Amino acid sequence: MPQLAEAVDPIAATARLGLSSTQKCLPPWLFYDEAGSQLFEQITALPEYYLTRTERDLFERHADDILLSLECPVTIVELGAGTAAKTGILLKAATQFQPGVLYQPIDVSPTALAEARESLERHLPQVVVRPQVANYVTDPIRIHREAGAKVLALYIGSSIGNFSPADARAVLRNLRSQLRPGDALLLGTDLAPSPCKTVTALLAAYDDAAGVTAAFNLNILDRLNRDLGSNFNLDGFRHEARWNPAESRIEMHLASTESQQVHLPANSAGPAVTLDFAPGETIHTENSYKFTAETLASLLADSGFIPARTYTDSKHLFAVTIAEAS
Ligand code: AVI
Repeated sequence: MPQLAEAVDPIAATARLGLSSTQKCLPPWLFYDEAGSQLFEQITALPEYYLTRTERDLFERHADDILLSLECPVTIVELGAGTAAKTGILLKAATQFQPGVLYQPIDVSPTALAEARESLERHLPQVVVRPQVANYVTDPIRIHREAGAKVLALYIGSSIGNFSPADARAVLRNLRSQLRPGDALLLGTDLAPSPCKTVTALLAAYDDAAGVTAAFNLNILDRLNRDLGSNFNLDGFRHEARWNPAESRIEMHLASTESQQVHLPANSAGPAVTLDFAPGETIHTENSYKFTAETLASLLADSGFIPARTYTDSKHLFAVTIAEAS
């Protein structure tokens, strides 16, 4: 009888590929299992992690201005919406200028989307939530366009910073292909060090005193142990945050504290392997790119958007840019 080929588990295939590279690496999407998503929520409330609260403050101060500049009505789409915690500020502002607002959050997590819908429908009944479970990086983006409404696409939280410059352009071009001239993008980006923003403050945001970011980073190994049956000893790895000025990015690594071997059992992606780690050797787990006015402008121009206005805080920590689809 013909045997059906076993489907290859994407986690197994990704881990095997990344851990067999010369610079061992794991992609950041592996952070976000249930434990990792909870740790990320905790990160967003840390005193050192200024990104979330600075962006929220920018929304609180400028939401009306942003919405007014678009000449409503708008229908709002959000890439990687999660629980849409900060989006409520923008949605509330939109409801002041139009009677009802259609909000289309797109995310890979059905539970996060259900939470977003439940909370928004309770607090903002004028908002109709139409969630879409999809991976906006690999899947086509579907937008429901209301007659006479402009689309305002949100890509906030500095999520664009976790992509290489080439992949960031691919994500924004995928979005742009679903928009029409005159539609708008609201992009949240973390800013590069400057006279008001030290590298020390930037590093602290990725290596907090309470060790939450370290736990978030190490959870990726715990996840592989849980999902793939590997035997990473979490005490044998140390969280490291590095500033790479040439690439304008924070890098997160997990450094092996000793010479050690890790066993990865056979699975749908291949036979069992033994991974050798030298003392100090690292697994590169994340890049978080930090933008200048110039790198932000070229990202937008290369992706088919014309920047209209950038809002930033007094210390130039974070920027929220409204750009028009050209
Ligand atoms: C999700 N992303 C924008 C976060 C960032 O700042 O790059 C992920 C993160 N990694 C460590 N802390 C937060």
